[in-house]
Amino acid sequence: MNMSPVLSCPTLPLSNGLQIPVLGLGTSHYGGFSHDAIVYALTECGMRHMDTAKRYGCEEKLGEAIRESGIPRSELWLTNKLWPGDYGYKAAKKACLDSCSQMGVEYFDLYLMHWPGSMRPGCSNRELRAETWRALEELYKEGVCRAIGVSNFLVHHLQQLKEDCSIVPHVNQVEYHPFQQPNHLMEYCHQEGIVFEGYSPLAKGQALNDPTVLQIAEKYRRTPAQICIRWSIQNNVVTIPKSTKHKRIQENCEVFGFQLEEVDMAALGGLHDNRHVTWDPTNVE
Ligand SMILES: NC(=O)c1ccc[n+]([C@@H]2O[C@H](COP(=O)([O-])OP(=O)(O)OC[C@H]3O[C@@H](n4cnc5c(N)ncnc54)[C@H](OP(=O)(O)O)[C@@H]3O)[C@@H](O)[C@H]2O)c1
Repeated sequence: MNMSPVLSCPTLPLSNGLQIPVLGLGTSHYGGFSHDAIVYALTECGMRHMDTAKRYGCEEKLGEAIRESGIPRSELWLTNKLWPGDYGYKAAKKACLDSCSQMGVEYFDLYLMHWPGSMRPGCSNRELRAETWRALEELYKEGVCRAIGVSNFLVHHLQQLKEDCSIVPHVNQVEYHPFQQPNHLMEYCHQEGIVFEGYSPLAKGQALNDPTVLQIAEKYRRTPAQICIRWSIQNNVVTIPKSTKHKRIQENCEVFGFQLEEVDMAALGGLHDNRHVTWDPTNVE
């Protein structure tokens, strides 16, 4: 890992040479957005990586909070996602440009296809994914997206895309926490040069009461959230916890001053029970 020049946050290299900050702040619908929390994360915690999606309905507000922070665009890493309702070549291009104007930015650092399933009757998922990906490839070549990727894609979705298209996704963002460790998918991504990004690193809070997590937290005098985030980052996973509370955001950022020992990494690695706390793409063709 390299260190980002603006932050004490390490970065991971994408296959195109860009460096993605390993820690980001999530946003989401259902109470997942707070203007003050975003400004606080940017100005007081040194956070430079924000994850959002058209689906979350907060693009405009996020853009406002970023402008209020006064942090130059060039110092930020902004990830946005394309919703399946906008899949297809023309619709995808339009949706990306609309999202840029909603947020008041000229480009995204990373733009992801949000989900492998699609919504166009009479067209297979595979065909529509490939058609949509070609639009993302063009947006990438035009510089509207500095990197492009996918989210919730499993190995077979990635293999099909590889056969159908020319650019291998730079990133795959999937659910990742101690109860959900898709190790085979991680290995495949690693082998293909796709950076693995994990969402819901606290299992939406479910991991914070786990006895093993609590025991390790006590050992290091850290909070359960810091243990989960540190474990994920130490596995070289780009990690994007979400909080709307100042104190928790600060806490979630303080994960670089310590290291988990092998024995504790292994104990957390043993908690996998294949639980999904969001959605599960297993049955998406
Ligand atoms: N690509 C996808 O399909 C997808 C799906 C889901 C999520 N995501 C992304 O991943 C981000 C994070 O995922 P997530 O929100 O599902 O789950 P998460 O980050 O695992 O957990 C968020 C929950 O934990 C609480 N929390 C945060 N920090 C805490 C702390 N230090 N102590 C105690 N509680 C804490 C939050 O509440 P408060 O806000 O009240 O602090 C919230 O209820 C999302 O915001 C989104 O950007 C992507």
